[in-house]
Amino acid sequence: MGLVAGRMWHREEVVIRPAVAADRDWIASALVERWGSTVMVTRGQQRDAAAFEALVAVEVVPEHGLERVGLLTYRVDREGLEVVTIDALRARSGIGTALLAFATQIAKDAGARRLWLITTNDNLSAICFYQRRGFRIIAVHRGAVDRARVLKASIPLVAENGIELHDELELELTLTSVSDAPISADGLPGDAPPSVR
Ligand SMILES: CC(C)(COP(=O)(O)OP(=O)(O)OC[C@H]1O[C@@H](n2cnc3c(N)ncnc32)[C@H](O)[C@@H]1OP(=O)(O)O)[C@@H](O)C(=O)NCCC(=O)NCCS
Repeated sequence: MGLVAGRMWHREEVVIRPAVAADRDWIASALVERWGSTVMVTRGQQRDAAAFEALVAVEVVPEHGLERVGLLTYRVDREGLEVVTIDALRARSGIGTALLAFATQIAKDAGARRLWLITTNDNLSAICFYQRRGFRIIAVHRGAVDRARVLKASIPLVAENGIELHDELELELTLTSVSDAPISADGLPGDAPPSVR
């Protein structure tokens, strides 16, 4: 387990790697399947997630070769690394944690002081997932999802868990302080980051 020359991260049978040109069609179709469109609307802004840099989780399936099982799209600027989308196509098998660990390493390599992202008030599993990995809620944008729905009509009024979608939550993982150390390969805040071979 660990980063290989800073380019790949491997956990059991899942490998995380930066997306390449050959992934682009799959990325677009995965985003459409998971989010109804490649266009994401957060903080009132429409952005095409398929155009961003991305990480792909690839599973080595015996006798079937390689299968893409996860996707994280992101962008880096002076504000830090923004996770634009994250999706584990097979839930609760460590794929999301591995994607986030790799993104953390990219942020650190870029000298970013934080990882940050927007999620919605209904997404309780994601809110738990991020907080268990050291993220803090730093803002609640009341009514932001209602405003986004004007731009993207496919955003539902009520989530599958019965919670009405209204608000955006902004979460961040600070990379500079020791107590908020980046998530480890095992997803535990404060542990050592994945080792580099
Ligand atoms: C949020 C999301 C990316 C998390 O990815 P994931 O791959 O399911 O996450 P992981 O498996 O790494 O971790 C989730 C839990 O599974 C557990 N887990 C990991 N491997 C496991 C295994 N082999 N067996 C059982 N549980 C396992 C982890 O302990 C973790 O639990 P915890 O959060 O209570 O600590 C995923 O649920 C997802 O794609 N959600 C839909 C899209 C979405 O909402 N994205 C976020 C938008 S902001």
